[in-house]
Amino acid sequence: MYKILLLVLGLVVTVTNGKNYTKYLQVVEKGFQEYQKTGSRPHYLNDVLRQFRLTNLFRENAYIGDTPIIEVPQVQDDALCSLCSLAADFFAFQIRSGTPRDQLKNEVTELCELFDIEPGRVCEGVVDLNIDAFIYMFANDPDLNPDVACHLLLYSQCPSDSFEWSIDVPDGESPSRPKPTEESLVKVLHVTDIHLDTLYREGKVATCSEPLCCQEDQEDGDESTGNICGYWATYGNDISEHLVDDFIRFANTLDFDYVYFTGDIISHRVWSTTEENNAKVITTLMNKFKNGFKVPVYSILGNHEPSPLNLYVFDNTTSDNLSTQWLLDLVDREWSAWLPASTSDTIARGGFYTVSPRDGFRIIVLNANVAYIDCWWLIKSSKDPYGQLDWLISVLEQAERYNESVHILAHIPSGFSKTLTSWGREYNKIVNRFANTIKGQFNGHIHVDQFQVHYNSDETKATNVAWNGASLVTSDFGNPSFKIYSVDSTTFDVVDIDQWTFNLTEANLNKDESPNWYKIYSFKEAYDVPSLQPEDIGDLLVKMAKNHTYLSNYHLHRYKNSDSAVATECDNKCQKKYLCRFATYINGDTTKCNELKKLYDKNA
Ligand SMILES: *[C@@H]1O[C@H](CO)[C@@H](O)[C@H](O)[C@H]1NC(C)=O
Ligand SMILES: *[C@@H]1O[C@H](CO)[C@@H](O)[C@H](O)[C@H]1NC(C)=O
Ligand SMILES: *[C@@H]1O[C@H](CO)[C@@H](O)[C@H](O)[C@H]1NC(C)=O
Ligand SMILES: *[C@@H]1O[C@H](CO)[C@@H](O)[C@H](O)[C@H]1NC(C)=O
Ligand SMILES: *[C@@H]1O[C@H](CO)[C@@H](O)[C@H](O)[C@H]1NC(C)=O
Ligand SMILES: *[C@@H]1O[C@H](CO)[C@@H](O)[C@H](O)[C@H]1NC(C)=O
Ligand SMILES: [Zn+2]
Ligand SMILES: [Zn+2]
Repeated sequence: MYKILLLVLGLVVTVTNGKNYTKYLQVVEKGFQEYQKTGSRPHYLNDVLRQFRLTNLFRENAYIGDTPIIEVPQVQDDALCSLCSLAADFFAFQIRSGTPRDQLKNEVTELCELFDIEPGRVCEGVVDLNIDAFIYMFANDPDLNPDVACHLLLYSQCPSDSFEWSIDVPDGESPSRPKPTEESLVKVLHVTDIHLDTLYREGKVATCSEPLCCQEDQEDGDESTGNICGYWATYGNDISEHLVDDFIRFANTLDFDYVYFTGDIISHRVWSTTEENNAKVITTLMNKFKNGFKVPVYSILGNHEPSPLNLYVFDNTTSDNLSTQWLLDLVDREWSAWLPASTSDTIARGGFYTVSPRDGFRIIVLNANVAYIDCWWLIKSSKDPYGQLDWLISVLEQAERYNESVHILAHIPSGFSKTLTSWGREYNKIVNRFANTIKGQFNGHIHVDQFQVHYNSDETKATNVAWNGASLVTSDFGNPSFKIYSVDSTTFDVVDIDQWTFNLTEANLNKDESPNWYKIYSFKEAYDVPSLQPEDIGDLLVKMAKNHTYLSNYHLHRYKNSDSAVATECDNKCQKKYLCRFATYINGDTTKCNELKKLYDKNA
């Protein structure tokens, strides 16, 4: 997904490597007090902090099934929040007492290196990019509680009720709608998470200490050990421009009426992004789409598009140099190639919009990146950023009145492990209220092939499904992929899905030829379902919990038959994890997941 880094404040965390760090707390507290008083970090504080080996702490999802590719420390100890709190208090105090930016930056960078979280230039770059948001927030609001930052950094380990809010969802039932007849179809191509790496170089090391390799300014790889980046792309890393071009070339050999692009254009070189460079890459990709596709492209923003990544600024009181307005204005201009002028207002306001491509059919695009917990501006305020959920309700009410069928596009799935729980819960209320009007949700971000089932309030009935496009990028050890949905042209229900991919290893061995794209599966056939209606997908989860062959097959689909997926077994624990992902539509709500796990165990 994005070997993301979230450093800056609250670097002090603990890991389960058999040690109990609670005993260090007092020393850390004393150390920070002395640091605060004297302005220099005492030696014994360095020594105790060095006990916490936190290498790769903020990298994620570096595993296939249950097999770790990168060893990421498992954060889990009673001492955790207290430690984060101590560091957060310390830095909030420093900011509020006017410590110069450069000094703060150096202090946080040094802590990042002391913990060995990332190599030096990565620590420095990420801190440099992120620190201004924290300085702004804490300097301008004397009442802002530093502990709130720990909740975003460490999430479920550090509970907080500062992010609780709800919105008013109108009463009423979603009127029932005609079922699809499949007499005629429209096709939608779904591509997501491109992560076009303009600094990608064949021949560089494929595995390195930095979060992204194959970079032109890194060392050369070694052919004899296989630690070398290939021509098209490399597992665990981003993709070359020629792969993006070949995707467009191949896609054009297929039939489709619309393209959904669900975000993430920029590479994972998160330590050295700039607005100028992001703007250039975004424009490059949009030009490829404009020249390459003859049909409308409906695009959305990913969490990687701002610089630094994740930081959508929905607080309009910030200074110009922190604002994301440049990005909103840029995509407003770029997307106007496919969108009516009526979308401009909301895009320029927050990157969301609605459009009706044909009678009876409406697309709603959300900027759900504002509900991603790595968006630090949530520290200031988290209630329905940009007023999007209220807006969503008003658009859906109108769609319901006019019997329109709606597809909702959002980068981050509502049940994702780093989606703000309040957002997911309120969003799910909306999905249920308008369940029959919403004919499908389309997400990105997680890079693997997955779907997410929504349930009614007592979780007795599946009410809606969110499909994930998998990704073109290979950073999560899957092969490049995209999907084509068959959609009933009257009801706009999804009736089947084809997933396309190619074997990256084989393609890199034959770099003079175009990759051999092939259809890996069709959903209806592979999972043997009568339809893709929510109830049937709900039944599929029950069927998977009983017959685990479906989950073994899913393991291959998830990574699109990549080398690592083929080489690993997905054991019982891993299969249950997959079931839970399908059934988690509100982050942190494990009811449906537990029910399916129990059923799985009964059939193990
Ligand atoms: C760690 O040790 C403290 C006492 O020093 C104890 O209260 C706490 O329960 C221990 N934590 C774990 C996870 O064992
Ligand atoms: C900022 O947002 C608030 C609430 O949405 C609005 O009332 C206010 O006019 C905005 N201020 C500016 C300068 O845009
Ligand atoms: C951002 O702008 C404010 C004033 O608008 C200025 O005080 C501050 O130094 C700027 N920060 C950076 C990092 O350029
Ligand atoms: C929507 O559908 C209902 C039931 O089929 C019908 O009664 C109503 O007139 C339709 N409304 C519009 C605006 O087409
Ligand atoms: C992909 O290609 C490599 C190299 O030709 C081959 O070893 C591997 O078995 C292929 N993978 C699959 C799933 O066919
Ligand atoms: C389990 O599912 C597979 C297809 O995925 C099927 O071939 C097999 O017959 C099923 N087993 C049972 C016991 O239903
Ligand atoms: Zn991504
Ligand atoms: Zn993303």
